[in-house]
Amino acid sequence: MYEIVGKRELAPKIKLFEVNAPEMAEKARPGQFLIIIIDEKGERIPLTVAGYDAEKGTISFAFNEVGKTTKQLGCLKVGDSVQSITGPLGNPSDIRNFGRALCMAGGVMIAPMLLQVRALREAGNKITVVVGARIKELLFYEKEMKDLSDEFYVATDDGSKGYKGLDFLKEILSKQKFDRCVAWGPVVMMKNVCEITKPFGVPTVVTLTPIMIDGMGMCGVCRVTVGGKMKFGCVDGPEFDGHLVDFDGLINRQRMFLPEERLSSLLWELQGGCSCGGK
Ligand SMILES: Cc1cc2nc3c(=O)[nH]c(=O)nc-3n(C[C@H](O)[C@H](O)[C@H](O)COP(=O)(O)OP(=O)(O)OC[C@H]3O[C@@H](n4cnc5c(N)ncnc54)[C@H](O)[C@@H]3O)c2cc1C
Ligand code: FES
Repeated sequence: MYEIVGKRELAPKIKLFEVNAPEMAEKARPGQFLIIIIDEKGERIPLTVAGYDAEKGTISFAFNEVGKTTKQLGCLKVGDSVQSITGPLGNPSDIRNFGRALCMAGGVMIAPMLLQVRALREAGNKITVVVGARIKELLFYEKEMKDLSDEFYVATDDGSKGYKGLDFLKEILSKQKFDRCVAWGPVVMMKNVCEITKPFGVPTVVTLTPIMIDGMGMCGVCRVTVGGKMKFGCVDGPEFDGHLVDFDGLINRQRMFLPEERLSSLLWELQGGCSCGGK
């Protein structure tokens, strides 16, 4: 069992948990992920490492309450435990001094991106950070990101804060040369970023979130197509060269079980869901 020792609401329906997991806290690196099972009937959900503290023996992850399991997880409180956490899984991010790095973080992935930004800064990079969300209420970590970056921008889909959409990136890219772009967020956002960076020749790394089961290269569920070749998101990734990813194929596979997922979430709520009110 893994005890929850910290819980924080980063934005509506986005929570950050800190759990006791000393062995994982020693090994985890930016870019890796965990597979969490809440209880004996729980499904396996992959979540990206959003923090680790080897001294305290804790590991953190942030999640968006999108379906049955993430809603159920969001109802747990400090002092509760989750049955199983496997990890750290996947390959750590490539952290080096590339020169000037553009870090694009969207939605819940702003949380693990903070780890990546910190590591890239410590490696000596000049950093431009863009945080984005659908609406301004879903933004978080603005101060933390600003403090770590040389340039900082905000973007929202509806223009309620900062730039509206991502078109402003073209102006940034035409003014200065970037040696690397890291884009983490919803698949559609990563696809858009890659379409924008490609003509400027900026190497762009994305983190892919295909449906996963074992997370260890055995089931094949997490198949993605990269550069015309089949790769496994869990063991070959989760980060890939964004200019080679077949994003449309990934989006189709992610939606394979939508009716079942909606039903499962509805049934859970009809059976009482939880009454924690998100706290
Ligand atoms: C490597 C990796 C890292 C991830 N990191 C994060 C993160 O840091 N924060 C976060 O909020 N989400 C993250 N996700 C997505 C997260 O795993 C799903 O949102 C979660 O599994 C949804 O479960 P659910 O039961 O609440 O929702 P459901 O209603 O079951 O699913 C909602 C949607 O989530 C996706 N999904 C469902 N089951 C899985 C699964 N087993 N594996 C992957 N995707 C699934 C599907 O696209 C589905 O349509 C990550 C996924 C992967 C593969
Ligand atoms: S999740 Fe099973 S092979 Fe990747």
